[in-house]
Amino acid sequence: MSSLKGRSVVLGVTGSIASYKAADIASKLNQAGALVDVILTPAAQEFVSSLTFRSLTHRPVVTDMLDADSELAVEHVALAERADVVLIAPATANTIAKLAYGFVDDAITATVLATTAPVVIAPAMDAKMYQSAVTNENIKRLEDRGYLFVGPGVGNLASGLTGPGRLVDTADILNAISDSVSSTKDLEGLRIVVSAGGTEEAIDPVRHITNRSSGKQGYGIAQAARDRGAEVTLISAPTALAPVDGVNMVNVTSARTMLDAVQDACEGADALVMAAAVADWEPAEFAQQKMKKVKGQDRLVLELKKTPDILFEVRNEALIKVGFAAESEDLIANATDKLQNKNLDFIVANDITASDAGFNVDTNRVVILDKSGGREDLPLLLKEKVGDHILDRIKLIKAEANK
Ligand code: PMT
Repeated sequence: MSSLKGRSVVLGVTGSIASYKAADIASKLNQAGALVDVILTPAAQEFVSSLTFRSLTHRPVVTDMLDADSELAVEHVALAERADVVLIAPATANTIAKLAYGFVDDAITATVLATTAPVVIAPAMDAKMYQSAVTNENIKRLEDRGYLFVGPGVGNLASGLTGPGRLVDTADILNAISDSVSSTKDLEGLRIVVSAGGTEEAIDPVRHITNRSSGKQGYGIAQAARDRGAEVTLISAPTALAPVDGVNMVNVTSARTMLDAVQDACEGADALVMAAAVADWEPAEFAQQKMKKVKGQDRLVLELKKTPDILFEVRNEALIKVGFAAESEDLIANATDKLQNKNLDFIVANDITASDAGFNVDTNRVVILDKSGGREDLPLLLKEKVGDHILDRIKLIKAEANK
Protein backbone atom coordinates (compact mmCIF):
# COMPACT_ATOMS: atom_id res chain seq x y z
CA MET A 1 0.00 0.00 0.00
CA SER A 2 3.08 2.25 -0.26
CA SER A 3 1.47 4.01 -3.25
CA LEU A 4 -0.98 5.67 -0.84
CA LYS A 5 1.74 7.23 1.32
CA GLY A 6 1.47 11.01 1.13
CA ARG A 7 -1.52 10.78 -1.20
CA SER A 8 -4.58 12.90 -0.73
CA VAL A 9 -7.71 10.74 -0.51
CA VAL A 10 -11.16 12.30 -0.28
CA LEU A 11 -13.52 9.80 1.33
CA GLY A 12 -17.20 10.55 0.68
CA VAL A 13 -19.58 8.67 2.98
CA THR A 14 -23.26 8.50 2.06
CA GLY A 15 -26.20 7.39 4.19
CA SER A 16 -26.40 3.61 4.39
CA ILE A 17 -26.53 0.94 7.05
CA ALA A 18 -22.93 0.28 5.91
CA SER A 19 -21.83 3.86 6.71
CA TYR A 20 -20.18 2.70 9.94
CA LYS A 21 -17.76 0.57 7.88
CA ALA A 22 -16.30 3.78 6.41
CA ALA A 23 -14.63 4.38 9.78
CA ASP A 24 -12.47 1.29 9.21
CA ILE A 25 -11.65 2.50 5.69
CA ALA A 26 -10.63 5.95 7.01
CA SER A 27 -8.50 4.36 9.70
CA LYS A 28 -6.71 1.99 7.28
CA LEU A 29 -6.09 4.82 4.81
CA ASN A 30 -4.61 6.88 7.60
CA GLN A 31 -2.38 3.98 8.62
CA ALA A 32 -1.24 3.63 4.99
CA GLY A 33 0.08 7.20 5.22
CA ALA A 34 -2.66 8.87 3.14
CA LEU A 35 -3.99 12.32 3.96
CA VAL A 36 -7.69 11.61 4.39
CA ASP A 37 -10.42 14.25 4.07
CA VAL A 38 -13.85 12.88 4.91
CA ILE A 39 -17.13 14.27 3.58
CA LEU A 40 -20.37 13.10 5.20
CA THR A 41 -23.71 13.66 3.51
CA PRO A 42 -26.58 14.73 5.79
CA ALA A 43 -28.00 11.18 5.50
CA ALA A 44 -24.64 9.66 6.48
CA GLN A 45 -24.70 11.76 9.65
CA GLU A 46 -27.85 9.92 10.68
CA PHE A 47 -25.76 6.75 10.85
CA VAL A 48 -22.28 7.95 11.91
CA SER A 49 -20.82 10.97 13.65
CA SER A 50 -18.27 13.39 12.25
CA LEU A 51 -16.37 13.09 15.55
CA THR A 52 -15.49 9.48 14.72
CA PHE A 53 -13.85 10.51 11.46
CA ARG A 54 -12.23 13.60 12.92
CA SER A 55 -10.62 11.40 15.58
CA LEU A 56 -9.44 8.81 13.07
CA THR A 57 -8.04 11.19 10.47
CA HIS A 58 -7.01 14.11 12.71
CA ARG A 59 -8.54 16.40 10.08
CA PRO A 60 -11.69 18.50 9.87
CA VAL A 61 -14.68 16.69 8.41
CA VAL A 62 -16.96 18.29 5.82
CA THR A 63 -20.59 17.86 6.81
CA ASP A 64 -22.30 20.58 4.86
CA MET A 65 -21.39 22.27 1.59
CA LEU A 66 -22.62 25.58 2.98
CA ASP A 67 -21.20 25.28 6.50
CA ALA A 68 -19.24 28.52 6.83
CA ASP A 69 -17.50 27.22 9.95
CA SER A 70 -15.87 24.35 8.11
CA GLU A 71 -12.46 25.20 6.71
CA LEU A 72 -12.84 22.52 4.04
CA ALA A 73 -16.49 23.02 3.13
CA VAL A 74 -15.94 26.49 1.75
CA GLU A 75 -12.93 25.09 -0.03
CA HIS A 76 -14.60 22.07 -1.61
CA VAL A 77 -13.11 23.01 -4.96
CA ALA A 78 -9.66 23.09 -3.36
CA LEU A 79 -10.41 19.64 -1.95
CA ALA A 80 -11.32 18.46 -5.45
CA GLU A 81 -8.11 20.00 -6.77
CA ARG A 82 -5.76 18.44 -4.24
CA ALA A 83 -7.35 14.97 -4.29
CA ASP A 84 -5.28 12.18 -5.79
CA VAL A 85 -8.35 9.98 -5.64
CA VAL A 86 -11.96 10.44 -4.56
CA LEU A 87 -13.51 7.38 -2.93
CA ILE A 88 -17.22 7.10 -2.23
CA ALA A 89 -17.85 4.31 0.26
CA PRO A 90 -20.56 3.37 0.82
CA ALA A 91 -22.27 4.84 -2.23
CA THR A 92 -26.08 4.66 -2.22
CA ALA A 93 -28.26 4.27 -5.30
CA ASN A 94 -29.32 7.89 -4.80
CA THR A 95 -25.74 9.27 -4.89
CA ILE A 96 -24.88 7.09 -7.88
CA ALA A 97 -27.94 8.47 -9.71
CA LYS A 98 -26.99 12.06 -8.89
CA LEU A 99 -23.43 11.52 -10.11
CA ALA A 100 -24.66 9.89 -13.31
CA TYR A 101 -26.63 13.03 -14.18
CA GLY A 102 -24.31 15.70 -12.73
CA PHE A 103 -26.59 16.85 -9.92
CA VAL A 104 -24.82 18.86 -7.20
CA ASP A 105 -26.67 19.14 -3.90
CA ASP A 106 -24.07 18.12 -1.35
CA ALA A 107 -20.30 18.35 -0.84
CA ILE A 108 -19.64 14.87 -2.28
CA THR A 109 -21.36 15.51 -5.61
CA ALA A 110 -19.74 18.98 -5.78
CA THR A 111 -16.27 17.51 -5.18
CA VAL A 112 -16.72 14.76 -7.75
CA LEU A 113 -17.92 17.21 -10.37
CA ALA A 114 -14.95 19.52 -9.76
CA THR A 115 -12.15 16.93 -9.61
CA THR A 116 -9.91 15.52 -12.30
CA ALA A 117 -8.69 12.77 -9.96
CA PRO A 118 -9.84 9.17 -10.39
CA VAL A 119 -13.17 8.44 -8.71
CA VAL A 120 -13.71 5.04 -7.08
CA ILE A 121 -17.23 4.05 -6.05
CA ALA A 122 -18.08 1.24 -3.64
CA PRO A 123 -21.87 0.74 -3.81
CA ALA A 124 -23.95 -0.53 -0.91
CA MET A 125 -27.71 -0.97 -1.17
CA ASP A 126 -30.49 -3.48 -1.17
CA ALA A 127 -30.16 -6.25 -3.83
CA LYS A 128 -33.35 -5.25 -5.62
CA MET A 129 -32.21 -1.63 -5.85
CA TYR A 130 -28.81 -2.71 -7.15
CA GLN A 131 -30.36 -5.02 -9.72
CA SER A 132 -32.90 -2.46 -10.93
CA ALA A 133 -32.58 -1.36 -14.54
CA VAL A 134 -32.13 2.30 -13.62
CA THR A 135 -29.26 1.66 -11.18
CA ASN A 136 -27.60 -0.56 -13.77
CA GLU A 137 -27.93 2.18 -16.38
CA ASN A 138 -26.50 4.76 -13.98
CA ILE A 139 -23.51 2.57 -13.13
CA LYS A 140 -22.88 1.87 -16.81
CA ARG A 141 -23.07 5.60 -17.54
CA LEU A 142 -20.44 6.34 -14.89
CA GLU A 143 -18.20 3.42 -15.94
CA ASP A 144 -18.26 4.71 -19.50
CA ARG A 145 -16.98 8.02 -18.16
CA GLY A 146 -14.06 6.29 -16.42
CA TYR A 147 -15.41 5.97 -12.86
CA LEU A 148 -14.19 2.79 -11.19
CA PHE A 149 -16.58 0.53 -9.30
CA VAL A 150 -15.47 -1.90 -6.63
CA GLY A 151 -18.15 -4.35 -5.54
CA PRO A 152 -20.76 -4.72 -4.34
CA GLY A 153 -20.23 -8.00 -2.53
CA VAL A 154 -22.86 -10.73 -2.33
CA GLY A 155 -24.34 -11.91 0.98
CA ASN A 156 -26.91 -11.22 3.67
CA LEU A 157 -28.31 -7.72 3.46
CA ALA A 158 -29.92 -5.48 6.10
CA SER A 159 -33.27 -5.91 4.34
CA GLY A 160 -33.20 -9.62 5.13
CA LEU A 161 -32.58 -10.49 1.49
CA THR A 162 -29.52 -12.30 0.23
CA GLY A 163 -27.82 -11.07 -2.93
CA PRO A 164 -25.54 -8.38 -4.32
CA GLY A 165 -25.45 -5.08 -2.41
CA ARG A 166 -22.98 -5.47 0.46
CA LEU A 167 -20.13 -2.99 0.80
CA VAL A 168 -16.99 -4.93 -0.16
CA ASP A 169 -14.18 -5.51 2.35
CA THR A 170 -11.88 -2.64 3.27
CA ALA A 171 -8.90 -4.52 1.78
CA ASP A 172 -10.59 -4.68 -1.65
CA ILE A 173 -11.40 -0.97 -1.51
CA LEU A 174 -7.84 -0.06 -0.54
CA ASN A 175 -6.45 -2.19 -3.38
CA ALA A 176 -8.80 -0.51 -5.87
CA ILE A 177 -7.80 3.02 -4.87
CA SER A 178 -4.12 2.10 -4.67
CA ASP A 179 -4.32 0.78 -8.25
CA SER A 180 -6.16 3.87 -9.45
CA VAL A 181 -3.59 6.22 -7.91
CA SER A 182 -0.61 4.46 -9.44
CA SER A 183 -2.18 3.54 -12.76
CA THR A 184 -1.16 6.67 -14.74
CA LYS A 185 2.29 5.83 -16.06
CA ASP A 186 2.45 8.83 -18.36
CA LEU A 187 6.14 9.53 -17.65
CA GLU A 188 7.42 6.10 -18.64
CA GLY A 189 10.67 6.45 -20.61
CA LEU A 190 11.62 9.79 -18.99
CA ARG A 191 14.72 10.13 -16.79
CA ILE A 192 14.23 12.75 -14.11
CA VAL A 193 16.81 13.97 -11.62
CA VAL A 194 15.54 15.63 -8.43
CA SER A 195 17.60 17.25 -5.67
CA ALA A 196 16.35 17.67 -2.11
CA GLY A 197 17.32 18.85 1.35
CA GLY A 198 19.70 21.47 2.66
CA THR A 199 23.40 21.06 1.93
CA GLU A 200 25.91 21.05 4.78
CA GLU A 201 29.11 23.05 4.40
CA ALA A 202 31.74 21.84 6.85
CA ILE A 203 33.59 24.34 9.05
CA ASP A 204 35.64 21.81 11.00
CA PRO A 205 35.23 18.09 11.86
CA VAL A 206 32.24 18.83 14.14
CA ARG A 207 30.48 21.88 12.73
CA HIS A 208 28.76 22.84 9.53
CA ILE A 209 26.58 25.55 7.98
CA THR A 210 23.17 24.39 6.81
CA ASN A 211 19.56 25.62 6.40
CA ARG A 212 15.99 24.68 7.30
CA SER A 213 15.16 22.47 4.32
CA SER A 214 13.61 19.15 5.42
CA GLY A 215 13.76 17.56 1.96
CA LYS A 216 9.96 17.05 1.91
CA GLN A 217 9.43 19.02 -1.29
CA GLY A 218 12.14 17.21 -3.26
CA TYR A 219 11.13 13.79 -1.91
CA GLY A 220 7.49 14.54 -2.83
CA ILE A 221 8.48 15.34 -6.42
CA ALA A 222 10.60 12.18 -6.65
CA GLN A 223 7.72 10.09 -5.32
CA ALA A 224 5.22 11.62 -7.76
CA ALA A 225 7.61 11.05 -10.70
CA ARG A 226 8.21 7.43 -9.66
CA ASP A 227 4.47 6.79 -9.35
CA ARG A 228 3.99 8.11 -12.89
CA GLY A 229 6.56 5.69 -14.29
CA ALA A 230 9.64 7.93 -14.66
CA GLU A 231 13.14 6.65 -13.91
CA VAL A 232 14.09 8.87 -10.99
CA THR A 233 17.42 9.76 -9.40
CA LEU A 234 16.98 11.55 -6.08
CA ILE A 235 20.09 13.40 -4.97
CA SER A 236 19.61 14.11 -1.33
CA ALA A 237 21.44 16.30 1.13
CA PRO A 238 21.11 14.98 4.71
CA THR A 239 17.46 14.75 5.85
CA ALA A 240 15.47 12.88 8.49
CA LEU A 241 13.27 11.30 5.79
CA ALA A 242 13.15 7.61 4.87
CA PRO A 243 14.61 6.84 1.43
CA VAL A 244 12.03 6.78 -1.37
CA ASP A 245 11.50 3.20 -2.61
CA GLY A 246 11.90 2.61 -6.32
CA VAL A 247 14.20 5.56 -7.07
CA ASN A 248 18.01 5.75 -7.35
CA MET A 249 18.99 7.41 -4.08
CA VAL A 250 22.29 9.32 -4.06
CA ASN A 251 23.27 10.79 -0.70
CA VAL A 252 25.48 13.87 -0.67
CA THR A 253 26.43 16.48 1.91
CA SER A 254 27.80 19.72 0.47
CA ALA A 255 27.04 21.90 -2.58
CA ARG A 256 30.20 20.56 -4.25
CA THR A 257 29.32 16.89 -3.71
CA MET A 258 25.79 17.68 -4.93
CA LEU A 259 27.22 19.30 -8.08
CA ASP A 260 29.25 16.15 -8.88
CA ALA A 261 26.24 13.89 -8.30
CA VAL A 262 23.92 16.11 -10.35
CA GLN A 263 26.39 16.26 -13.24
CA ASP A 264 26.74 12.46 -13.28
CA ALA A 265 22.99 11.85 -13.04
CA CYS A 266 22.10 14.43 -15.70
CA GLU A 267 24.06 12.69 -18.43
CA GLY A 268 21.32 11.48 -20.75
CA ALA A 269 18.57 12.69 -18.39
CA ASP A 270 15.47 14.54 -19.59
CA ALA A 271 14.92 16.93 -16.69
CA LEU A 272 16.54 18.28 -13.56
CA VAL A 273 14.38 19.64 -10.73
CA MET A 274 16.49 21.46 -8.13
CA ALA A 275 14.29 21.52 -5.04
CA ALA A 276 17.35 21.38 -2.78
CA ALA A 277 18.28 24.42 -0.73
CA VAL A 278 21.90 24.61 -1.79
CA ALA A 279 24.26 26.76 0.27
CA ASP A 280 25.44 29.81 -1.65
CA TRP A 281 28.49 30.07 0.59
CA GLU A 282 30.97 27.62 2.12
CA PRO A 283 33.84 28.20 4.56
CA ALA A 284 36.89 29.45 2.63
CA GLU A 285 39.08 27.00 4.59
CA PHE A 286 38.13 23.74 6.27
CA ALA A 287 39.76 23.57 9.71
CA GLN A 288 41.31 20.08 9.96
CA GLN A 289 40.98 20.07 13.76
CA LYS A 290 38.05 21.16 15.91
CA MET A 291 38.25 24.92 16.31
CA LYS A 292 39.00 25.83 19.92
CA LYS A 293 37.56 28.60 22.02
CA VAL A 294 40.27 31.11 22.74
CA LYS A 295 40.23 32.74 26.15
CA GLY A 296 39.32 36.40 25.95
CA GLN A 297 38.03 36.11 22.38
CA ASP A 298 34.34 36.99 22.10
CA ARG A 299 34.03 37.24 18.30
CA LEU A 300 35.02 35.00 15.45
CA VAL A 301 35.11 35.97 11.80
CA LEU A 302 34.49 33.08 9.45
CA GLU A 303 35.53 33.73 5.88
CA LEU A 304 33.19 32.28 3.26
CA LYS A 305 33.56 31.72 -0.46
CA LYS A 306 30.93 31.15 -3.13
CA THR A 307 29.79 27.62 -3.93
CA PRO A 308 29.35 26.57 -7.55
CA ASP A 309 25.89 27.29 -8.97
CA ILE A 310 24.69 23.79 -9.81
CA LEU A 311 21.82 24.78 -12.10
CA PHE A 312 24.11 27.08 -14.03
CA GLU A 313 27.03 24.64 -14.23
CA VAL A 314 25.24 21.50 -15.30
CA ARG A 315 25.94 20.77 -18.93
CA ASN A 316 23.37 18.97 -21.04
CA GLU A 317 21.86 21.06 -23.82
CA ALA A 318 18.70 18.97 -24.05
CA LEU A 319 18.04 19.02 -20.30
CA ILE A 320 14.82 20.66 -19.05
CA LYS A 321 15.96 22.74 -16.08
CA VAL A 322 13.61 23.58 -13.21
CA GLY A 323 14.62 25.70 -10.25
CA PHE A 324 12.98 26.63 -6.98
CA ALA A 325 13.11 30.04 -5.37
CA ALA A 326 12.65 30.30 -1.61
CA GLU A 327 11.92 33.93 -0.93
CA SER A 328 11.04 35.97 2.15
CA GLU A 329 10.33 39.18 0.17
CA ASP A 330 9.68 40.30 -3.44
CA LEU A 331 8.76 36.76 -4.43
CA ILE A 332 8.04 37.33 -8.10
CA ALA A 333 10.84 39.81 -8.83
CA ASN A 334 13.50 37.67 -7.13
CA ALA A 335 12.26 34.45 -8.70
CA THR A 336 12.20 36.07 -12.15
CA ASP A 337 15.85 37.12 -11.73
CA LYS A 338 16.81 33.54 -10.89
CA LEU A 339 14.79 32.16 -13.79
CA GLN A 340 16.74 34.37 -16.19
CA ASN A 341 20.20 34.24 -14.59
CA LYS A 342 20.18 30.47 -14.31
CA ASN A 343 18.70 30.00 -17.78
CA LEU A 344 15.81 27.82 -16.58
CA ASP A 345 12.75 26.49 -18.37
CA PHE A 346 10.68 27.45 -15.35
CA ILE A 347 11.02 28.28 -11.69
CA VAL A 348 8.81 27.37 -8.74
CA ALA A 349 8.63 30.29 -6.33
CA ASN A 350 7.61 29.68 -2.72
CA ASP A 351 6.97 32.32 -0.12
CA ILE A 352 8.74 30.97 2.94
CA THR A 353 7.10 33.43 5.33
CA ALA A 354 3.78 31.49 5.30
CA SER A 355 3.38 28.92 8.07
CA ASP A 356 1.78 26.31 5.77
CA ALA A 357 4.27 26.61 2.90
CA GLY A 358 8.00 26.43 2.25
CA PHE A 359 10.32 24.78 4.78
CA ASN A 360 9.51 21.66 6.78
CA VAL A 361 5.74 21.36 6.25
CA ASP A 362 3.79 18.86 4.14
CA THR A 363 2.11 21.53 2.01
CA ASN A 364 3.32 24.28 -0.27
CA ARG A 365 1.80 27.27 -2.06
CA VAL A 366 3.79 28.12 -5.15
CA VAL A 367 3.82 30.35 -8.19
CA ILE A 368 5.31 28.89 -11.36
CA LEU A 369 7.04 31.34 -13.70
CA ASP A 370 8.20 30.18 -17.10
CA LYS A 371 10.78 31.52 -19.52
CA SER A 372 8.10 32.81 -21.92
CA GLY A 373 6.71 35.11 -19.23
CA GLY A 374 3.84 32.80 -18.19
CA ARG A 375 2.68 32.74 -14.57
CA GLU A 376 0.57 30.14 -12.72
CA ASP A 377 -0.51 30.63 -9.09
CA LEU A 378 -1.29 27.29 -7.48
CA PRO A 379 -3.44 26.90 -4.35
CA LEU A 380 -2.18 25.28 -1.15
CA LEU A 381 -1.28 21.72 -2.13
CA LEU A 382 0.48 18.71 -0.70
CA LYS A 383 4.10 18.73 -1.83
CA GLU A 384 3.58 15.55 -3.94
CA LYS A 385 0.78 17.38 -5.72
CA VAL A 386 3.04 20.38 -6.38
CA GLY A 387 5.33 17.73 -7.88
CA ASP A 388 2.55 16.62 -10.22
CA HIS A 389 2.12 20.16 -11.54
CA ILE A 390 5.88 20.40 -12.16
CA LEU A 391 5.86 17.01 -13.89
CA ASP A 392 2.89 17.98 -16.07
CA ARG A 393 4.92 20.93 -17.35
CA ILE A 394 8.02 18.80 -17.95
CA LYS A 395 5.88 16.36 -19.92
CA LEU A 396 4.48 19.21 -22.03
CA ILE A 397 7.92 20.73 -22.74
CA LYS A 398 9.23 17.29 -23.70
CA ALA A 399 6.28 16.67 -26.01
CA GLU A 400 6.83 20.06 -27.71
CA ALA A 401 10.53 19.30 -28.17
CA ASN A 402 9.76 15.91 -29.73
CA LYS A 403 7.38 17.38 -32.32
O1 PMT B 1 12.79 20.87 1.86
P1 PMT B 1 11.49 21.46 2.38
O2 PMT B 1 11.48 21.62 3.88
O3 PMT B 1 10.31 20.70 1.87
O4 PMT B 1 11.36 22.95 1.82
C1 PMT B 1 11.22 23.16 0.46
C2 PMT B 1 12.14 24.30 -0.02
C3 PMT B 1 11.66 25.63 0.56
C4 PMT B 1 13.59 24.05 0.37
C5 PMT B 1 12.08 24.27 -1.60
O5 PMT B 1 10.77 24.34 -1.96
C6 PMT B 1 12.89 25.41 -2.20
O6 PMT B 1 12.43 26.53 -2.33
N1 PMT B 1 14.14 25.07 -2.63
C7 PMT B 1 15.09 26.03 -3.15
C8 PMT B 1 15.63 26.85 -2.04
C9 PMT B 1 16.76 27.73 -2.48
O7 PMT B 1 17.85 27.51 -2.06
O8 PMT B 1 16.47 28.62 -3.34
P2 PMT B 1 17.60 29.66 -3.93
O9 PMT B 1 16.82 30.83 -4.22
O10 PMT B 1 18.75 29.82 -2.99
O11 PMT B 1 18.15 28.95 -5.22
C10 PMT B 1 17.47 29.02 -6.46
C11 PMT B 1 17.65 27.73 -7.22
O12 PMT B 1 19.05 27.52 -7.53
C12 PMT B 1 17.22 26.49 -6.45
O13 PMT B 1 16.59 25.62 -7.36
C13 PMT B 1 18.53 25.91 -5.94
O14 PMT B 1 18.45 24.50 -5.79
C14 PMT B 1 19.50 26.29 -7.03
N2 PMT B 1 20.88 26.50 -6.58
C15 PMT B 1 21.15 27.34 -5.54
C16 PMT B 1 22.46 27.55 -5.14
C17 PMT B 1 23.50 26.87 -5.82
N3 PMT B 1 24.76 27.02 -5.46
N4 PMT B 1 23.20 26.06 -6.85
C18 PMT B 1 21.93 25.88 -7.26
O15 PMT B 1 21.67 25.15 -8.21
